[in-house]
Amino acid sequence: MSLSTRQILTLGELDSSEFDGILRLSMQMKKDLATGAAHHLLKNKTLAMIFQKPSTRTRISFEVGMYQLGGHAINLSSGDMQLSRGESIADTARTISRYADCLMARVYDHDQIEALAKHSTIPVINGLSNTFHPCQTLADFVTMLERKGSLRGLHIAWIGDGNNVCNSMMYGAALSGATMSIATPAGLRPSAQALRDASKLTTIDLTTDPTKAAAGADVIATDTFKSIHDSGGVNEDKLFPKYQVSDATMSVAEPDAIFLHCLPATRGREVTSSVIDGPQSAVWDEAENRLHSQKALLALLMGAAPDI
Ligand code: CP
Ligand code: NVA
Repeated sequence: MSLSTRQILTLGELDSSEFDGILRLSMQMKKDLATGAAHHLLKNKTLAMIFQKPSTRTRISFEVGMYQLGGHAINLSSGDMQLSRGESIADTARTISRYADCLMARVYDHDQIEALAKHSTIPVINGLSNTFHPCQTLADFVTMLERKGSLRGLHIAWIGDGNNVCNSMMYGAALSGATMSIATPAGLRPSAQALRDASKLTTIDLTTDPTKAAAGADVIATDTFKSIHDSGGVNEDKLFPKYQVSDATMSVAEPDAIFLHCLPATRGREVTSSVIDGPQSAVWDEAENRLHSQKALLALLMGAAPDI
């Protein structure tokens, strides 16, 4: 299988069958790793990774993923690059394109990943911007597929900040036929553009009432109340305690609902420890699935994916 795009900045670049193909290849990658049938699909390939922001899961899962596929990853902190002294994004992208086979970047303004993609001649992956986190969505939908068996008609409740993770999840819902109810304070709604795009393909409801969003949901998802770019923590006051996911929230969802959180989490703020450490939590599978889904994405973008 192959993809019609060489850039994953939002997930809006994909159609439903490509999204489904990535999820299926992710599950195959996971199975192959477990059974020892894994192959070095990216032998001699290099992934350059630029981080303007901290990361645990994204950095490790991309680096381990490249290693497992027989390739190599270079970790570049933007502060150590000439970017920090004013070299342009365009010249940085042109230079990296002459050395590496794929570029992943975690940036502040989404414009910066767009500029990297515009000036690169190699595939580019958004490893989180202030507005989108597409790689998280891939792992989230692999986790939902594993736990629920199918995605079409699945009802996802997002409760909390209408942030980058929520924006990307809307694209995932649209591409898979899941629906979403999103509960946020009025001032913290998700991206209007992502909402418009996703609403062309599926039903996305917005509310300010977390209980209404959670009622009958198959999946309850949230994220930190204080994203990296929200340096002053100004959103937290609008969110806590009303939008905290607690046992009370889970009690109005379906009895077999799962809980998702991209991590890192602050127990006692956006989620109680009884939920994130409880039996309905799927957060460790979700974190693990970053590895498998990104391996699938890397192989596809570098034209090395097997037919499945
Ligand atoms: N979920 C996620 O992207 O985690 P990191 O910030 O640790 O990479
Ligand atoms: N919304 C969070 C996600 C971290 C993985 C942030 O942007 O900091």
